[in-house]
Amino acid sequence: MTDTYLDLVNSGFTKKIAKQLKLPRPAVLRRHEEGAPLVPGPVLLVADAAAEAEADLVAQQLLGLDLDVHRHAGDTDRLGAIVLVLTGVREPADLAEPMLAVAAPLKRLAPGGRVLVISRAPGEPGALPAPLAAVRQGVDGMLRSLAKELRAGATGNGIVLADGVGVDAPSVVGATRFLLSGKSAFVDGQLLQVTSDGGAVPADWSRPLDGQVAVVTGAARGIGAAIARTLARDGATLVVVDVPAAGEALASVANEVHGTALQLDVTADDAAAKILAHVAARHGRLDVVVHNAGILRDKLLVNMTPAKWDPVLAVNITAPLRITEELLASGTLGPAPRIIALASTSGIAGNRGQTNYGASKAGVIGMVRAFAPRVASLGGTVNAVAPGFIETDMTASIPFAMREAARRLSSLQQGGQPIDVAETIAFLATPQAGGVNGQVLRVCGQNMVGA
Ligand code: NAI
Repeated sequence: MTDTYLDLVNSGFTKKIAKQLKLPRPAVLRRHEEGAPLVPGPVLLVADAAAEAEADLVAQQLLGLDLDVHRHAGDTDRLGAIVLVLTGVREPADLAEPMLAVAAPLKRLAPGGRVLVISRAPGEPGALPAPLAAVRQGVDGMLRSLAKELRAGATGNGIVLADGVGVDAPSVVGATRFLLSGKSAFVDGQLLQVTSDGGAVPADWSRPLDGQVAVVTGAARGIGAAIARTLARDGATLVVVDVPAAGEALASVANEVHGTALQLDVTADDAAAKILAHVAARHGRLDVVVHNAGILRDKLLVNMTPAKWDPVLAVNITAPLRITEELLASGTLGPAPRIIALASTSGIAGNRGQTNYGASKAGVIGMVRAFAPRVASLGGTVNAVAPGFIETDMTASIPFAMREAARRLSSLQQGGQPIDVAETIAFLATPQAGGVNGQVLRVCGQNMVGA
């Protein structure tokens, strides 16, 4: 589905009128293009006083990504990104110097530029001295506020390291690359937790999934079809799953990605068995599972019926729970499995008319947290991606006024595209995201409704 308002205020004669009338102008986001630079200009790297050594390591990693790195603002006229290393802060007063050092350079951040903050986790309650816990938690509020100040499609995100994870660990490098790139166009105001070093940095960043087999449910259209295309682009062989009623569209996605189609209702008792049998017969292995199939049946709870409640829970959470359990129990997953499930910002912030959907999507978050240690013991990860408003057939069914509000009430003043969710899932599927486990990554343009 297209966002006509965004198109109008960014093209031709209507762009001029929008400027004259001072209408809000959501930016055309900088999305990944093959061969385009990772960021649209030089990178300014700033660190707190006690993080100089770690900043040097980050600088080396950025140079390894072919970026033009500057340690002082100087007079570079357009910055592609500002990277703040705040791993050395000990108390809230330590934030002043690095934050004020980037205040003026922020004005020079290019359209579609990036702010990336690398910091350390506040840890479990009672684990750290109060001033240290306070400043580390403070980074969270600072980053979320800063992201809301950025303009012209620029975004701000954080990578939060558990103590013991180095700033140059493969998962930090992988997350840095993703968050600086156009692949994270609709990820904004998020802090991604890296809890262990993760797998190796790939020899070829453009084909990190070479040789792997991925199953995507609900892949006949919308976000699922985009996920299938993106994982195929990154080297995976695809099994695309959808209900028999969507068989024709499913076959065309399967053809497009040179994969195989499996017509299946994910709520069927034998869904996992059918997936395993298909994969064994056609591809011989299974590495990546994406639980994307999902449905809406919105109703206020006062008007709720079993016909609206039961299918939403059955498709969105009971099926992923059962299929994941059976796949893990089968002992046939590849050596570093990746399981990724679609949650929703409705499962985080709640949404009127969605008690059923909210329960199912928050359930997905509970599910990935519960499975995380077990999947880690197999060398793998299980994470959730929580989209905000994404332009698909599903959201086209939302009444116009609600749809328009959902689009504009984010820091980026627009809905995301299926590719934005797909890129985030593709990142979590890579070997170098091995240090990200049991997490929920929002792809919502920093949606402000309730969260
Ligand atoms: P969509 O409605 O366009 O596509 C969903 C696909 O799942 C369809 O092809 C459908 O046939 C399939 N499906 C439904 N029930 C199934 C079943 N029992 N077995 C197998 N396949 C089944 O939806 P969209 O927008 O692409 O959403 C994909 C996922 O992203 C869903 O889990 C949804 O809840 C989630 N999401 C979407 C958001 C959005 O703004 N579009 C926001 C937040 C989450």
